[in-house]
Amino acid sequence: MSAEETGMYDKMLLIPGPTNLSKRVRSVMSEPQLPHVGPEFYAAFKETLGLARYAFRNEKGVQFVFTGSGTIGMESSIVSLVQRGDRTLTLSTGYFGKRMLLLNQIHGAKAGSIDYRDGAHADPDDLRKKLAETKYSAVFITHVDTSTSISNPVRELVEECNRAGALSVVDGVCSVGGVPLDFDRLGADIVFTASQKALSSAPGAVLVAASQRALDAMASRKEPIGSYYMNLLRWKPIMDDPRMYLATPATQVLLALREALTELKEEGVEKRWERHRALGEITRDSVGNWGLDFVAEEGHRADTVTSFFVRNGTAGEVQKKLETDHGVVVARGIAEQKDSVIRVGHFGILTPAELRGALGSLGDTLAALKETAPRAAPAER
Ligand SMILES: Cc1ncc(COP(=O)(O)O)c(C=O)c1O
Repeated sequence: MSAEETGMYDKMLLIPGPTNLSKRVRSVMSEPQLPHVGPEFYAAFKETLGLARYAFRNEKGVQFVFTGSGTIGMESSIVSLVQRGDRTLTLSTGYFGKRMLLLNQIHGAKAGSIDYRDGAHADPDDLRKKLAETKYSAVFITHVDTSTSISNPVRELVEECNRAGALSVVDGVCSVGGVPLDFDRLGADIVFTASQKALSSAPGAVLVAASQRALDAMASRKEPIGSYYMNLLRWKPIMDDPRMYLATPATQVLLALREALTELKEEGVEKRWERHRALGEITRDSVGNWGLDFVAEEGHRADTVTSFFVRNGTAGEVQKKLETDHGVVVARGIAEQKDSVIRVGHFGILTPAELRGALGSLGDTLAALKETAPRAAPAER
């Protein structure tokens, strides 16, 4: 697929973030520089916060938007909430669950985990049992783990946390804006995401929704939060009055985010969830038709990203040929799955028609490299 065909892209990104950007979002970033403390940026930032609330469905909690990647959202949640010696639990369903566990360890928690094999979902029954055995101050949950494409049953998991009186932190980097997530109804204490995934903006902005309970827990800590920049309590007054200064914001990134969130609101968040559901189904149908195996178990496959095994370890070749021949970019598996797994990101402003076209090219590439298997005779694995 070429820029001529789409009229939009030099390359069609089907990686699990960053996503393709609309012309509106791209053009915002080439406007003249604004002062970060002037009335224009102040008004734009206020609007961005309101739009972020809309995307998260967060009317009751506190909304944060600031410069940083998704990892800053993760680490600021951990460093702000967790005190040294706190017992925390991470549900580890892939690479990003492992990162949350690591950050808990780095920041001095007595960090426990339930570790799932790649492709398995976090089971609320396991969590219930664990919470009955041990008192944890906070539980860390990945909604969609981008490495395995697993979609965890976040509502049930958060319910277990609330029943046991543990705070819950949800990594929504690969979910917010793409799949149903209603912060007010979910009852989680923190949900964070980043600008470059289902929100279809440029990388560099982190969005955090937090409950009053989470803010109270931060405020009543015995020891101060061990960070200047990743201290959510320090960011709170800036969210109340963005004219105040904490650190210079990436103005272009935040203005681009306002535009992307405006587009999201124009589409309507529920419509966007529906479109992502269709994108997920289209992708899963294609993988099924190619006769290839999914990484994520059935019933728990995400609508924002799909990972599947290639049979002959040619993920790198598939990726290269697809980009060279068709201008479509997919990702490979992470770490030991880099040769055996392809990951297709299908979120943001992507349309079903664009996705079908790009998957057609991926199917041709897999066939050319003898990776597809007829449905009737699936390959031995
Ligand atoms: C589920 C998930 N969590 C966290 C992150 C980290 O975000 P970032 O790379 O923006 O720091 C990613 C990035 O892909 C992700 O997919």
